[in-house]
Amino acid sequence: MNARLVVLVSGAGTNLQALIDACADPAYGATVVAVGADRDGIAALGRANAANSAIPTFTVKVKEFSTRSAWDEALADACEQFSPDLIICAGFMKLVGKAFLDRFTGRCLNTHPALLPSFPGMYGVRDALAYGVKVTGCTVFLVDEGVDAGPVLAQAPVSVYDDDDEATLHERIKVSERALLVDTVGRMARHGWSVNDDRKVRIGT
Ligand code: GAR
Repeated sequence: MNARLVVLVSGAGTNLQALIDACADPAYGATVVAVGADRDGIAALGRANAANSAIPTFTVKVKEFSTRSAWDEALADACEQFSPDLIICAGFMKLVGKAFLDRFTGRCLNTHPALLPSFPGMYGVRDALAYGVKVTGCTVFLVDEGVDAGPVLAQAPVSVYDDDDEATLHERIKVSERALLVDTVGRMARHGWSVNDDRKVRIGT
């Protein structure tokens, strides 16, 4: 089976690019069938358009809906059009809500630039640096109704250097993050996955 991936983005899209590049190998087991965004004019949408056979894109902006739940429903509808096996939030800077999760819980994953449950939220890199940790990293997890709180799929550590600032540390985390995301999505696509009642995730049988 070739898993159908819908990737949601808000910014540079380097994680998206890593997935697009991985999908070029048929043995990877997945294809990016669409890229969705919450805003126009971002580099990530350019990456979708520039892909070998241009990847369809859609944009669903919060401000175009009268309520957040209407936006949530519209985002879910837009994703559903592409019959995804997995939805990947790759630097998507919006929290999805109940309408979205009612349809996609268990097959929507996110990537975060810290070792959850430490430093959830918008500023995972900044918060880790401010706390003074010597090791941080990245986490790929299944999205639930919490903020960066869902079952963990994979994690990788990254050392913090004395002279790091937020930008240098984030760039180093992103190198690990791209590899972790590509590896995790590929294993899920090829081998399947399950989540126990105690929120432990198992990839493969
Ligand atoms: C990634 O580091 C991702 O973990 C982070 O945004 C970056 C996106 O990079 N996401 C969050 O902080 C979500 N809370 P990219 O656009 O180059 O893939």
